[in-house]
Amino acid sequence: MNAESSVCISFLCIYVLRVPTSRTQQLSYSNASESLEILPSGDIQSRSIGSSIILTCRPKVENPSLISHMEWVDPQNRVIDDAIKQSGNAKSTMYTESRAGNILALLFTNLQEEQGGKYTCRATYANTEKLEKSVTIDTIVSIAWDDAPLNQYPILGEDFNIKCKVRARPSPSVDWLKNGDLITGSNDHYIIDTYALKLKKVTEDDDGIYTCRASVPTTGELKERNIRVEVHIKPVIEELDSTIEIVEGETTDIVCKARGKPPPKFTWVKSITHQDLSTADRFAVNKDTGVMSIRNVNREDDGEYQCTAANAAGTANMNIRLNVIVKPKIMEFINKTIPVSRDLEIICKAFGRPPPEILFRKHTSEKRFVLGGQPNDDRIILENHQDDRNGETVGILTIRNVIRTDDGLYECIGKNKGGTSYKNGHLTVEFPPSFEATDNRTVFAWDKHPGNLTCIATSIPNATIEWRLFGGQRLESSPQIEIRGNGPISSLIVYPMDNRFFNTYKCIASNIHGTKERSFVLKEGRRPGQLSQVRIVQMTATTVSFDLVLPPQQDELPIRRISVQYKLSDQGWDKALNRTWTVANSTYILERLEPERNYDFRFAPGNEVGLANWGNQITESTQPKSRPEIPKMRNQNAHGGEYEMSPFSNQYEVAWLLPPDNGEPITHFEITYCPLKRIAGEWEEVPNSCKTEIEKGQRTVYWLKFLSADTYYKIEVRARNVFGLSEPGFIRIKTSRGQDPPVVHHQGTLITSGAIIGIVVAVLVVIIIVIDVICCCAQKTGIIFYMCERSRRKPVDEEDAKLGSLYGWRFPLPYCDQKMANVAGVTAIQDSDSGKSTIRLVKHTAIDEKEPLREEKKITPIIDSGLRRETSITFDGKRSISKTGFIGKDSAV
Ligand SMILES: *[C@@H]1O[C@H](CO)[C@@H](O)[C@H](O)[C@H]1NC(C)=O
Ligand SMILES: *[C@@H]1O[C@H](CO)[C@@H](O)[C@H](O)[C@H]1NC(C)=O
Ligand SMILES: *[C@@H]1O[C@H](CO)[C@@H](O)[C@H](O)[C@H]1NC(C)=O
Ligand SMILES: *[C@@H]1O[C@H](CO)[C@@H](O)[C@H](O)[C@H]1NC(C)=O
Repeated sequence: MNAESSVCISFLCIYVLRVPTSRTQQLSYSNASESLEILPSGDIQSRSIGSSIILTCRPKVENPSLISHMEWVDPQNRVIDDAIKQSGNAKSTMYTESRAGNILALLFTNLQEEQGGKYTCRATYANTEKLEKSVTIDTIVSIAWDDAPLNQYPILGEDFNIKCKVRARPSPSVDWLKNGDLITGSNDHYIIDTYALKLKKVTEDDDGIYTCRASVPTTGELKERNIRVEVHIKPVIEELDSTIEIVEGETTDIVCKARGKPPPKFTWVKSITHQDLSTADRFAVNKDTGVMSIRNVNREDDGEYQCTAANAAGTANMNIRLNVIVKPKIMEFINKTIPVSRDLEIICKAFGRPPPEILFRKHTSEKRFVLGGQPNDDRIILENHQDDRNGETVGILTIRNVIRTDDGLYECIGKNKGGTSYKNGHLTVEFPPSFEATDNRTVFAWDKHPGNLTCIATSIPNATIEWRLFGGQRLESSPQIEIRGNGPISSLIVYPMDNRFFNTYKCIASNIHGTKERSFVLKEGRRPGQLSQVRIVQMTATTVSFDLVLPPQQDELPIRRISVQYKLSDQGWDKALNRTWTVANSTYILERLEPERNYDFRFAPGNEVGLANWGNQITESTQPKSRPEIPKMRNQNAHGGEYEMSPFSNQYEVAWLLPPDNGEPITHFEITYCPLKRIAGEWEEVPNSCKTEIEKGQRTVYWLKFLSADTYYKIEVRARNVFGLSEPGFIRIKTSRGQDPPVVHHQGTLITSGAIIGIVVAVLVVIIIVIDVICCCAQKTGIIFYMCERSRRKPVDEEDAKLGSLYGWRFPLPYCDQKMANVAGVTAIQDSDSGKSTIRLVKHTAIDEKEPLREEKKITPIIDSGLRRETSITFDGKRSISKTGFIGKDSAV
C-alpha cells in the first residue's frame, strides 16, 4: 500500500465514520432477519485465566457487503482497537482482527480476570439498520495459593494463624485437615478463618502437617496444600549460679544453658561495655552450647556478663556476675629492730580479692597468732584493717613491752579464697649485755697450766668486752697476760708467775643499750687432800670392797678419781698393784686377791693438778677359800614391795649379780622356784612343789618358763663352786593374770620359727623324693632313675640295659637293683592279633609275705613308642596310683 492510497483510505474512513455517526442516532433498528452471529455460540463463555479465546462476529444478512461499521465494544462500552492500530503500543492481550467476509474477530491471547464481562459486537447494515450481538466472558480463576507458606512456625503459648490465602473464581470454599484428619468446624482451639486456621494458645501438640483444602464446586476444582507446622519455643535460660568465682590466672568455662525450639544460639556480652565476647582476646564463645571460656582470667574480667539465647521464637537473657578472686600478694613486710621493753608494731600489707586476712606466725611455733589478744600472751595483739575498695589489708601485730624471746623470724600469712601467700620478716630485739652463757666464775691455774677466764657477753648488738682488775685498774700489759677477743667472747689467759696473779678480774661488756660487769676469781690449783674416811665393807677370799668418803671441798678443783695401791703385807710398796677408780658412788671393789693373805691398802684422791699423797692405809686379811658368796638379786624389790610383779603370766627373767667366788671358780648356778601362798600376811611354801633348774656357765640371767599365772613364787639362786653351794639370794615374784598356756611341755619355747622352717624344709625334701621316685618308676626320669641306670649300665651290656630300663619303674629304690629284678616274675605276653607285645610284670616282694606289694604295669612296646603311651601304676600297700599319658617321641625308651 502506497502513501497516496493510504491517505485516500484514511479520508474515506473519516468521512465514512463521521457521516453515519451523526446519522445513527436517528436510525431505527431493522427487522430480525438481519442479525449478527458470534461464535462460539452461547451467551456466556466461561474461560480460564490465561487462556486464549477468539470470538468471531459474523453478520447474518442477505448482502454482507452492506455491512459497515462493524466493531467490538468492551464491558465499559469502549471500542476495542484492532491489532493494526495497536501495533505501535505495547501489544495488548485483547484486540480485534478483520477477516474476509465481513468477519470481525475479538481475540484474547492471555485472558485476564478483569477482562471478564459483557462484550458486544455492533454493525450497521445498509447504512440504516443497526445490528448488535453480545456475549459475556466469564473468567474462571483456578485455585491459587496467594499466601500459604509451606512451613509455618507458631510460638508456644501464643495464638497463631496458619495462613492459607486462596484465590479462585468462582470463590472457593476452604477446609482444613491435620495429619489427614478433618478439622470439623471451629472449636475452642481451632477457628477456621477466611484466610487462615487460627490456633489458640499453641501447644507442642500442634506440630504436624496441616492440609489446607480449597474447592470450587462450580468448576469441580479441588486443590490441597500441605503446610508443615512446627511449634517454636522461646528460649528459656536455666537458672544457674548467678555469681561465679574464679581465681585469677585460671581458665574457666561459664555455661549458659537454654532450652528452646529450634535450639537457640548464644551470645555473650560484657554488660558494661556491651562488647561481644566471641571475638574478644582470651575469650571464646561456643554459639551452640553457650559455653564461654576465659583463659588466664584477669582481674579486669571481674564484672557482670550477659548471656543471650536466641532462636526464631524469641530471645532470653541472663546476667552472671563474675568475681575474680586474686590470690593474696604480700606487698610489704619490713624487718624491724627494737630495743627490749619497748612497744612495737609489725606491719604486713597484702593485696588480694577479696581483701585477704592477714595472720602472723613466729617460726619457732606452729601456731599462728589469732586476731585480737593472744590467749597465752596478752602483750601481743593482732589486728586486720581491710580496705574493700582497693583489696588491700593491713595486718598489724602489736607487741607491748617487747621481751628478748620475741626476737626471731616471723611469717606474714595472707589468706583468702584464692590461696595463701607467705613472707618472712625478722624482728630483732636489742638488749644490753648479760652473762648467761658464762659459767665458771672461779678459775684455777697451776704451773704450766694457765688460767683461762672466758667471758661470753650475750647481747644484741654484739657487746665489746674489756678486762680490768677488780678494783677497776687497767691490766698492765705483760707476757703473763693475754687477751683473746674483745667481744662478744673474750678470754683472758693468765700465766701466773707469782701470787700477784691470783686475783679477781672483771669482764666489762657494753653495747649501745648498756654495760655489765662480771668478776672472775683466778685461784691457784692444788692437789687434793686425803680421804676423810676409809672403811672395809666386805672381805671375801678374793675380793674386798671399801666405803670411801671424799675430803670436804670448797672452791677447789674437783676430785676426778681415786687411786688405790695394795700389796701383800710381807712385801714392799714397790711391788704394789695399782687401781684407779673414777669418782662414782661410795663403794669401790678390788678383785683377784689371794685367799687367806694379809693385804695393805693405801689411797690417794686425784684432780687435774695431780694425785694427793698416799694415805689412809689399812691392813686386812682375805678369807679362806670357801663356797661362793650369796648371789645378789639384781631386780629385788624394784618397786619397794614384798614381791615383784612379773610382766608375764607364764615366765620370769631372774637376774643376779655375779658373786665373789671365794677362791674357786663358780661352776654353775642353781635356780629354785617354789609357789608360795600368802596366808594372813605370812608367806607359806606349797609343800613338794619346788623345782630347781640349773644355769651352767657364767650367765647371770635365767628365764623361768611354764610358771602358772597369777601365782606367787619364791625364787632362790645359789652359786656353786667346788666348796659347795652358796647361801641363796632370793626374790619373791607374782606372775601376772592371764591365760595359762596349754599344758604341752616342750623342751624349748613353744615352736621356734627355726623349727617351723626346719619342718617345712623336711616336708619339701620328702615330697621331692616321692616325686622323684614316682618319676623314676613311671617316666623313667629323675635323679634316682639316673643313678640306678648308671650303676646298672656299667656291668650289663646294651641289651640288658634296655630291658633294665623297663624294670626301672620299680619301687622302692633297692628294687632298681638288677639282682632284685630276679625276685620278680616277668611275663611277656605276645598278642598275636595286634602284633603288639605286652609285658605283664607281677612281682612278689620278700618284704611282706602276707600282703605282697603288687605292682602292675602295662607297657605298650618299644615298637610304637613314637605315638602314644599310657602308664598305669598301682601300689597296693601304699595306695598310690599314677596314670600318665603323653604324646610324642618317647626318648626315654
Ligand atoms: C629481713 O631479714 C631477713 C632475715 O634476717 C633477710 O633475709 C631479709 O633480706 C631482710 N629483708 C630486708 C628488707 O631487710
Ligand atoms: C679458754 O676457754 C674457752 C672456753 O672454755 C675456750 O674456747 C678457749 O679455747 C680456751 N682458751 C685457751 C687458750 O685454752
Ligand atoms: C656477733 O657475734 C657473733 C659471735 O661471735 C658473730 O657470729 C656475729 O657475726 C656478730 N655480729 C655482728 C653484727 O658483728
Ligand atoms: C703404780 O703407781 C706407781 C705410782 O703411781 C707407779 O710408779 C707404778 O709403776 C704403778 N704400778 C703398776 C703395776 O701399775
